[in-house]
Amino acid sequence: MMAFENYPTVHILDHPLIKHKITKLRDKTTKTSEFKMLVKEISVLEGYEALRNAETQMVEIETPIEKTTQPVVKRKSLCFVPILRAGLGMADGMLDLLPGCTCGHIGLYRDEVTKKPVEYYCKLPADISEKDVYLVDPMLATGGSAIDAVAQLIKHGAKKITFICIIAAPEGVEAFVKKYPNIPLYIGALDRCLNENAYICPGLGDCGDRTFGTTNGTTEDRPII
Ligand code: PRP
Ligand code: URA
Repeated sequence: MMAFENYPTVHILDHPLIKHKITKLRDKTTKTSEFKMLVKEISVLEGYEALRNAETQMVEIETPIEKTTQPVVKRKSLCFVPILRAGLGMADGMLDLLPGCTCGHIGLYRDEVTKKPVEYYCKLPADISEKDVYLVDPMLATGGSAIDAVAQLIKHGAKKITFICIIAAPEGVEAFVKKYPNIPLYIGALDRCLNENAYICPGLGDCGDRTFGTTNGTTEDRPII
């Protein structure tokens, strides 16, 4: 296995707040409403790091004291792309950082038997080739979904892509960097391995189900009537 810590495009975020919130996210007793909020908060923290080199432009404003020219992020040059479904929660966090940014959407699910991604939706801005694209999905397991989503972005003309996930398995990171050695990859936590069902260990279970409350079990919020 590669030593990702020293791989130039792989950024494993080492921050106590991110670790703290990911631990709460993993906990099987964390309910849907809190789970969603945590995904959003972690995405804000990861987005803060991933957008460190975002382009800025100078704008003229007036403070209560005087006119001045100050930097703002060039929002028009950015595009956030969640992989459906679970990526939607992360896009919410990115949009908290920069409301009004353009979003594309890529719909993929893993076939239950083959574990290969199945494409079902793709809507991207026409001028994607001019944008810095931030592809978001909480889970990088085998890497199949992220690799397929990047291929779709490239097919539509995207030139500058960054991938942000919350939990990654070493197998997925290795597959991703072998396929895309120049695409930056931001990871909240690098876990131990995949199990026989290609789930991340220790992981957090099925992220889409936990985000949208489609799991059978005790983690659902009690409906308010
Ligand atoms: C999850 C997750 C990723 C994918 C990761 O989605 O959100 O998209 O699995 O696995 P991979 O790296 O092995 O491809 P899922 O397929 O469960 O779809 P969902 O979000 O619609 O539930
Ligand atoms: N998808 C998930 O939601 N969780 C995993 O552990 C692997 C793939």
